[in-house]
Amino acid sequence: MTMIERARKRRMHRNLVAGAVAATLSWTVAPGAIADPVDEPTIEVNGGEFSLPTRVEPADHVKDALPEVMSGWLFRDADTRAMQLDDFENQGMIFADSGAEAWDTVEGTEGKSCASCHNDIESMKGVRASMPKMNEAGDDLWSMENFINDCRVNRMGAEEWAWNSQPMKNMTAAISVQSRGLPMDVAIDGPAQSWWEKGKEMYYTRFGQLEMSCANCHEDNYGNMIRADHLSQGQINGFPVYRLKDSNVVSIHQRFVGCVRDTRAETFKAGSEEFRALELYLASRGEGLPIEGVSVRH
Ligand code: HEC
Ligand code: HEC
Repeated sequence: MTMIERARKRRMHRNLVAGAVAATLSWTVAPGAIADPVDEPTIEVNGGEFSLPTRVEPADHVKDALPEVMSGWLFRDADTRAMQLDDFENQGMIFADSGAEAWDTVEGTEGKSCASCHNDIESMKGVRASMPKMNEAGDDLWSMENFINDCRVNRMGAEEWAWNSQPMKNMTAAISVQSRGLPMDVAIDGPAQSWWEKGKEMYYTRFGQLEMSCANCHEDNYGNMIRADHLSQGQINGFPVYRLKDSNVVSIHQRFVGCVRDTRAETFKAGSEEFRALELYLASRGEGLPIEGVSVRH
């Protein structure tokens, strides 16, 4: 076989796979398969202690892409939605509680805990809503995980936590809960702008054998069913989320890995520059949505 023949064969195979997916999508978007998101203007948590808007006006930079910015909660089934309405039903809160305990735990050569410098964990209010953002040196875009490890390694003399390790996810859950109800508001100008552009480019890049981009599912098809799943806009304001399937909390980058794998592509690593750029872009698509973390997903 010549190189050209091989290339043609590969292309044919790719088109076949892409065609199969297109067929699956069009089959599933047939009338009757469309499941509308529920029509609830707010998520009332703990009998109204938090009243979280589920739909907000898109920011200028997403107006062309989305007529309305919607919480993933609207697309979940009634049982899953109900669990997020009460912190005692929400299993994710157990993980956030463990994170809050670790906040006060002394670790490392400096004999310090997070509380030694930051006082109560309530001082982290607002932090989730602004992540990811440029680091203090201004030379890198950091997710919350990077900030936490910077404190552990350089300020506590403690070991760094792996991105998707249990203590890291517990801590990001505990910190995220402090921002419940605050609108997502990330900086996308100045030094963050090139990161944002890179993230946007990734969002529209077709990955894998299926040649599908994030936008193909989460912009073009939200509200439609894909297999047994009701597609949302893929927002990240509920993260880390508690997944019933895993009986555990799941980080933003962990979810990205899952979605990229679903396109049958080689995925990037949790914590990679690519995923941090993508996280910034997604955070900006959700501008104005309240932080919900820890949300519940199936
Ligand atoms: C020795 C003091 C010290 C300790 C201990 C410490 N930090 Fe920090 N931390 C800082 C300083 C200083 C900053 C940068 C300035 C700021 O934002 O407060 C920072 C920043 C952060 C940020 C980013 C905040 C923001 O507004 O952007 C997070 C998140 C954070 N720390 C989490 C933690 C966690 C979790 C622990 C414990 C595992 C911890 N820190 C332990 C001093 C400390
Ligand atoms: C083949 C379709 C498909 C593609 C392509 C895809 N996803 Fe997803 N994604 C899903 C499904 C299905 C879910 C679970 C249901 C939902 O929340 O939409 C999901 C969930 C998510 C969620 C969780 C939303 C929530 O509220 O819990 C995020 C975030 C996400 N995707 C981001 C991405 C990103 C970023 C990309 C591109 C790298 C991507 N997805 C590509 C199908 C896809």
